[in-house]
Amino acid sequence: MQFLADLKRTHYAGDLRAEHIGQEVVLFGWTHARRDHGGVFFVDLRDRSGLAQITFDPTVSADAAAVGDRLSREFVFGVRGKVVARESKNPNLATGEVEVVAEQAVLFNPAAVPPFHIRDDIDTNEDLRLKYRFLDLRRAPLQQALMTRSKVNQIVRNYLTDNGFIEFETPILTKATPEGARDYLVPSRVHPGQFYALPQSPQLFKQLFMVAGYDRYFQICRCFRDEDLRADRQPEFTQIDIEMSFIVPEDVFGIIEGLLKGVFEQVRGVQIPTPFLRMSYAEAMGRYGSDKPDLRFGLELQDVSDLVASSGFSVFAETVAGGGQVKAVVLPGGGLSRGRIDKLTQVVKTYGAKGLAYATADAEGAWTSPIAKFFSAEDQAALSQRLGMAAGDQALFVADKPGVVAAALGALRQTLAREQGLIDPNALAFCWVTEFPSFEWDEKEQRWFAMHHPFTSPRPEDVPLMDTDPGQVKARAYDVVLNGYELGGGSIRIHDAKVQQKMFDLLGMSAEESRQKFGFLLDALAFGTPPHGGIALGMDRLIMLLIGGDNIRDVIAFPKTTSASCMMTEAPSPVSKQQLDEVHITLKGE
Ligand code: AMO
Ligand code: AMP
Repeated sequence: MQFLADLKRTHYAGDLRAEHIGQEVVLFGWTHARRDHGGVFFVDLRDRSGLAQITFDPTVSADAAAVGDRLSREFVFGVRGKVVARESKNPNLATGEVEVVAEQAVLFNPAAVPPFHIRDDIDTNEDLRLKYRFLDLRRAPLQQALMTRSKVNQIVRNYLTDNGFIEFETPILTKATPEGARDYLVPSRVHPGQFYALPQSPQLFKQLFMVAGYDRYFQICRCFRDEDLRADRQPEFTQIDIEMSFIVPEDVFGIIEGLLKGVFEQVRGVQIPTPFLRMSYAEAMGRYGSDKPDLRFGLELQDVSDLVASSGFSVFAETVAGGGQVKAVVLPGGGLSRGRIDKLTQVVKTYGAKGLAYATADAEGAWTSPIAKFFSAEDQAALSQRLGMAAGDQALFVADKPGVVAAALGALRQTLAREQGLIDPNALAFCWVTEFPSFEWDEKEQRWFAMHHPFTSPRPEDVPLMDTDPGQVKARAYDVVLNGYELGGGSIRIHDAKVQQKMFDLLGMSAEESRQKFGFLLDALAFGTPPHGGIALGMDRLIMLLIGGDNIRDVIAFPKTTSASCMMTEAPSPVSKQQLDEVHITLKGE
């Protein structure tokens, strides 16, 4: 094995182009692939920038060729040689016009046979790739994701700094901040029986920066949430966290639109039109069945409750009579077979729907449908007209409580769009969703929950409703949505101690409990708190959408599985009895 000898890297492999022909270069990297051509042989050298072809020709340097001959997959080596034009160019490779003819080569380290082939397109199971993440990270798609991430960090810092924001850090060992998930707890050694909580977000600290007068804060920070994981959720993730004083929501929208515009322009070279569309929560739920509507395609939900209220189809009529809704999604051109509709029925049933009725219209608006017999010719025509159905279009109906209709048809809409290829993969559909309800009623616990977090200000005109009809209170909260993903969320905060106390009361928190949990915030509100608000963007989701991906793990260097474990380090893992004793913990059953 050798150390660096007298070599110093001059270039990254992936940067070599025709303009380098004739230059002497030194490259360091890994053996990606090797091809022999009788005497002369070729090795693809890979580093973080890409690949370059190295030619080992014993007639140029027998020593270099002898080293080259020992190279196998993933061996680390260095090479010095001249860049020449390649005889057979490879248009699929950025460096495909050139190759480096080795004059000196150094083998730094051999490598064990890797457990999977390090290529861009592999179908190795993800658990194995996560176990050997340091090998998976050698692959170009992951390299590009991480480099994009680094670039976005710089763009965000520059943009926010240029706009007068100050970057601060906040504690990781702290007290619970309620964002709706469970806390990760850290036991204290010094204070037996007491725990720190890892922050679900820096929410309260950033508000305290406003109390302290810092006016415009940002942080690219880690958040920790013990919640059910999905393809777009990790137990620890990164936020671009922002807070501003003396503002209205439009100020936040302007800053975020400028930020996203800059990021998409500098990373993807696309211009995104601003301002983004704004839509109330009620409209989003009504038209798309989701508070994070995917606006890249139509298939909107349409309400036909009034038209079916007195129809002969008892499922529809009784649903409307019971205060429910009947809504439909129309698939232009139709063509869904019985089998497909059975599958879609299973989809809507997972959202609580009891069935999925369907009908195909002809040119006159008359239906072919198992439920056609329950509707007169006039009713069919009226429904087809309301739904804007042309000949051959298929309508799919769900009748249920509004929440179930929204969830079921919202999911159906997404499934149909994907299956029917209605989504332009390059489209970027941003919008702001506003006027969220402040409170959600939890049937199980029989109490109100804050839909955003308990520091979110109700609309001033709705404050009296907190006493009389909490379900009607609208929050000064907003989410920024991209292609059906919630990219970020925020709100204008409560800056009045009395309203904050009222909020805690409504959420069923006693004066004693709110003092114990948030006494420092209530104190701060008494000492001259400016009106303020902010937002946090999910950095991981942003990068995922920037690179056109759909798995958040692909943009995090060392992610966790959906059961919150790290396949590589095997965290979480048991600890010694001594460590547990030090933090005063006895495990159950011991
Ligand atoms: P919120 O809880 O909406 O707001 O979070 C803001 C954004 O963070 C991202 N995000 C996640 N990303 C990956 N994995 C997760 N588990 C996860 N959870 C959230 C989402 C989300 O939109 N303190 C408030 C912000 C504020 O009010 O200013 C907050 O954290 O993209
Ligand atoms: P049934 O009367 O149960 O045979 O149902 C007739 C059709 O209506 C079937 O296609 C069912 O899937 C559908 N259906 C039943 N309940 C509902 C409902 N709540 N909403 C929409 N369609 C339904």
